[in-house]
Amino acid sequence: MIVPAGTVLCRLADMADGATKGFVLGEGEWPLRGLLVRLGDGVQGYLNHCPHAGHRLNFHPDNFLTPDGALIVCRSHGALFDKASGHCIDGPCRGESLRALPVGVQDGEVRLTGPLDIDQLVTRYW
Ligand code: FES
Repeated sequence: MIVPAGTVLCRLADMADGATKGFVLGEGEWPLRGLLVRLGDGVQGYLNHCPHAGHRLNFHPDNFLTPDGALIVCRSHGALFDKASGHCIDGPCRGESLRALPVGVQDGEVRLTGPLDIDQLVTRYW
């Protein structure tokens, strides 16, 4: 399944600056799970897939951050990721990175800026 560029994921106003939000694209047992991070007027998007052991990063919807909100944390074994780059700065996958997704803000909406091949991504990362 190809999800086309321009697909709306949420409204920018739905996220506080610095906050995260999870999203799901596709259907069935193996949808694509992702997360968004708002940084000022921009947004970064990543696969919700830890490079350490392939687990989902979060236990609770939309909650991907350390208690101080500074970093993305994987709840399985504590890997810490920079919000802006997705780079792992500490933990068992130090030096690796979250898989970035093509997202951007247009007219106040967070959208895919390129198509996503869900089947290809799920086969490769899950
Ligand atoms: S699966 Fe994320 S730190 Fe182990």
